[in-house]
Parts: sequence; C-alpha cells; structure tokens
Amino acid sequence: MRRQQVYIVMGVSGAGKTTIGKLLAKQFKIPFFDADDFHPVPNVEKMKAGIPLNDDDRHEWLEHLRTKIREWQKAGGAVLACSALKEKYRKQLQSLPQENITWIFLHSEFEVIHGRISNRENHYFKPELLQSQYDTLELPSYGIHIDVDQSPDEIMKEIMDKIKDKSEIGLLGLGVMGKSLALNMASKGFKVSVYNRHVEKREVDVAKKFVAENSEFNFRGFDDLKAFVESLERPRNILLMVNAGKVVDFVIEDLLPHLEKEDLIIDGGNSHYKDTIRREKELKEKGILFMGAGISGGEKGARKGPSIMPGGPENSYDRVGPILEKIAARDKNGNPCCTYVGPDGAGHFVKMVHNGIEYGEMQLIAETYQLLRFHSGEKPEEIAALFEEWNKEFQSYLLEISIDILRKKENGELLLDKILDAAKQKGTGGWSTNAALELGVPLDTISAAVMARNISGMKEERTAAAKKYDFRTSEKEKTKEPKNIIFEAFKAAAVINHAIGFDLLKAASEEYNWNLNLSEIARIWTNGCIIRSKLMEDLVEIFRGHQGHLLIQEKIMREMKIHRQSLTEVVGMALKAGFPVPVMSAAANYLLSFTSEQSSANLIQAQRDYFGAHTYERKDKPRGEFFHAEWKPEID
Ligand code: 6PG
Repeated sequence: MRRQQVYIVMGVSGAGKTTIGKLLAKQFKIPFFDADDFHPVPNVEKMKAGIPLNDDDRHEWLEHLRTKIREWQKAGGAVLACSALKEKYRKQLQSLPQENITWIFLHSEFEVIHGRISNRENHYFKPELLQSQYDTLELPSYGIHIDVDQSPDEIMKEIMDKIKDKSEIGLLGLGVMGKSLALNMASKGFKVSVYNRHVEKREVDVAKKFVAENSEFNFRGFDDLKAFVESLERPRNILLMVNAGKVVDFVIEDLLPHLEKEDLIIDGGNSHYKDTIRREKELKEKGILFMGAGISGGEKGARKGPSIMPGGPENSYDRVGPILEKIAARDKNGNPCCTYVGPDGAGHFVKMVHNGIEYGEMQLIAETYQLLRFHSGEKPEEIAALFEEWNKEFQSYLLEISIDILRKKENGELLLDKILDAAKQKGTGGWSTNAALELGVPLDTISAAVMARNISGMKEERTAAAKKYDFRTSEKEKTKEPKNIIFEAFKAAAVINHAIGFDLLKAASEEYNWNLNLSEIARIWTNGCIIRSKLMEDLVEIFRGHQGHLLIQEKIMREMKIHRQSLTEVVGMALKAGFPVPVMSAAANYLLSFTSEQSSANLIQAQRDYFGAHTYERKDKPRGEFFHAEWKPEID
C-alpha cells in the first residue's frame, strides 16, 4: 500500500508553522497536529518549570512522533508543525528516506521573524530565545524552502506551486527503452520528469517533443540538466536509461554538481557489474546512492511491464522498489517480476546471466531451425507450425517470436532469407563467459553461443571456405530424424543451458557473498523478460526447495535420462550431415562431463607435471597433498 504524505512544516518559533500548517491541512483536507502537543508529561512539567529540554528529553518525544507519523501515513496523511531545527531530530522523524514525508521549511532573516513576533499582540518574547533558535538551526539541504517574508496567501501559493511541480522520479535518456519506461511509469500514476541531452541536428528537443506527443500524461521534459534535477522531489530518484559503458560515467559526472546527499541514481542499462560496483563505491563517498538495475523485455516489455533486477544498497531499494514493482510485469500469482536481487553489482550480474541464457537459447533455436529446414527439408511455414506445437508445452517467448519470424514475408518472400547471417552482440554474452572464466566455472552452452556469433561474423571467410569444402550430405544420404526426437534434444539442451546459467549465478553469489535467491530470480524471469518460458516457471519451484545444481534435481534428472539419447542422436546426425550445432553439442558434452565420475583430467595433470613439474594430487592420498614424478624413463 502506498503510504499517504505527511507534511512537516518546520522552522524557528514565529516562522508561521501553525498558521501555514493549518492552511495546508485545510487545503489537503487532512488533519493538522502540533508537535508540542505530543510531549510526554515529564517534558511538559520541565517546560512549565522553565527548564529547557535537552536532547535526551527530546528523544522520547520524537520517537513518539515517529510512531504517530507512521499512523498518519496509513490513515490518509496529515500536516505536522514541528520546529525540527537539527538534522538529527529530522532524521529521527524520518528514519527511512523513502517514507512519504514532505518537509516544508519556513524561514527568513532574523529581523523579519523578530519583527513578526514583536508585533504579535500580548506576546511575551525574548529576542535571545530567537537568537538561540537561529544558532541551533541546521539548514536542511532538502525539502521545500519558503521565505516567509510574504503574506500567508502568497506563502501558500508558493508551497502549492512547489508541491505540484515536483516529480517522484526522473528518467534520463529518451531512447526506445527510456521512452517506454517513462510511459509505463506515467500510466501507473507516477509523476515523471524526463531529460534528453541536446545534440545539434541529431537530438533536438527530444524531451519536449516526447512530452507534447504524450500530453495525456503530465510529463515534464528537459534538455537542461539542472532544471531537470530541480524538478524532482528530494531526495531524488533518477533512472538512467543510457548506453552502457563510458556514457554512464559521463552522465554521472554531469549530474553530480546538481545532486545532494541521499539522492539516488539507478542505472537501468546493461552495464557491466564491475562498473556498477565501482560506481556505487565512488558515489557512496559523495553521499549519493547508486543502484544497478537490469531491465529485460525490450521496447514492449518496458512499456507494458518488464522484468526488473535491481541490485545495490538495500535501503535504496526500499525507496524505489515500490515504483519499480509497480511498473514491472506480474508473475502468475500477480506478484511483480521485480525483486531486490542483492548488494553492489548483483543486479547487473543477474541481468548479464539472463542475457547469457538468452544467447544460448537463441542459438539453440537457430540451430534447430537450420536442421529442420536444410536437413529435414521442412518449409519455413511447416517449421513455424511445428514450433507452435512445441510451444504449447515449452511456452518460450523466444520460440514464440521465432514463429512470427518464420512467417514474416516481404514482397511475398520470407524476410528471414534476406537477412545477412552475421550476428551482432553488445557484450553481455561475452561478459558472462569472462565471469565464468574468472570464477573457474564451466559455461559451455553460453560461451558456445557467443563463439557461434563470432564465427557468423566471418562471412567472407566462410563464403570462401564453403567453396573449397563441401561437407553437406547429399539428398539421398539424408536420414530424416523424427521431429519428436529433435524436440526432445531441443528441450534437453535448453534445460542444460539454464542449468549452466544458474550455476554461474550460484558461483558468483558464493564468491561475492550476494546471497542470491535462485528461486526468486527464476520467478522474476517468468514474465516480462526475454527468457520467460514454462521451464522458468518450473525452476521457481525446483529452486525453492533446493539451490543446488539443476541437473541433480529429481524432476530434471528424470527428463534428462529420457532425453539424453535424443540429444546425442541429433548432435551426431547434425555433425555427420554437415550442420554445425555448437550449443546443442556443448550441451551434450556438458551433460556427459558433469555426469562422469572419471574424467580424462588425470592425463592433463600428468602432462602438466611432466613438462612443468606442476605436481598432481593422488586418488589414494588426501586432497591437498601434491606429488611430482620423474616421467621420462632413465636411459642408461
Ligand atoms: C533484454 C535483452 C536486451 C537486449 C540485449 C541484446 O533482456 O531485454 O537482453 O537487454 O536486447 O542486450 O543483446 P545483444 O545485442 O548482445 O544481442
């Protein structure tokens, strides 16, 4: 439940807290409270006796007020007049920065306030008291600041203008994803400011045009960074939707002079998790909060509900989590496909592995399509129909879009056939491979998919080599594999690809102490994202009971035992017939390697020891004891 706003009108005695507070309460039709009415009896007695309160006396009173504020937030909001001169008092009232409190700071020159108080009828007032209040006052760097040297009506107008103006979140970068996310947030009722840089002739009035094109929402658009930042509620939440890499650092550098302590930057791009770790540390030193949030789902997902993987300081998630959860896709139980993933770079790491699994599954579908079309001789529309059939069970988004692709015509011809067969990549698959290398874990299917994209890029070399070799079997040699066997092989490889991806998450979680919850990660991947499927639904349950390796989970083991034969057969047939199946064969090899008690690595160890005296462990001795042998037979 979204908590209702509590407005705290603060300032020195005589600034007009009660007058303005009451007007504000009337305006919003919410109750008004005076903090002084909540003092515990001993404080009241002390005050009556003319003894000034110390901070210990205030502590209990502020605690009580804090509880009341929570109650008021649940009950529909309130206005509270409270001097709250010191930051520590304010901090006590607002223990969490994300609590819905709007601070309204009434202030002016000493002489102005002094003059006002002196003019009050029957008001006994000592100027020293006001001076001591000014001395105690620590100016808040946040909130709405109002100079009270004007009439109550004017003050109210200024407050209302400022309250109305502020956006709950700012989105920087109006590319395809940025625009869609901004629309998503606005359609969920959030007030959003949007910013896009001005680049002569290339990016002119992007934000302004976006605001005009979407006038049904109350966007505020900027190409001036300072004005953009100033348009946001404090502490500020700014979502960056810019290209990963150096650009993120440049944008942060530009933003910094306009930011204040406790402001929060969320990087929603596909940034490298190590950059995210570094940025969070650097910004923390400046008092700025930083989160890396993976966002999956492409343009449509971003607009209708993406899967969101936020990582970073947990208190930051408490602040923006409610916004992110509201714009995220829903799982089958109606819960948001967004959860706090873990500290520092965890969010971007999880997104990176999401993309790694995505690379594996895309390549797997491509290999299957190629086999069906060019080996089995199925027509594109037949393959589309077959995929449609398979997808009743598999329910994979990537398979679903492949069906549409196989049906897309341009001037009566299949568009697919006109697309150059050289795959591009922006890096996340390769980064997953690097991470696996660093952590010393296997990543067979995902790295095979990355390499498949790399080799696809060697179009000229491939074309030349194809003329020199002809490995494809002739028509009459072709053995048509039954389609159900191909489907079984496909399913087995897909499961192995997921097992490999989740195992990388587990390794990183242990290495970095991220405490990743694999079941929750699978859950937020069940909708909104690119790798959503029925398998992902199953993984939520499977990982709920057991976070171990997927291939030793009962249900999966049963399937693997049934489908391994098909996987091996299809890989064998494909290679024999001259069709590369890098992901499928990587999956088959992984499965065999993972399930082999005796690997061939004893020979590797012997070779290492032979040429480099690298030593080896022995089966008949405890682990951790190392031996060396003289391998070359002595020649007399
Ligand atoms: C997603 C996608 C998205 C993007 C990929 C494409 O989850 O929405 O993964 O993030 O489309 O990064 O990556 P490549 O360009 O490397 O294929």
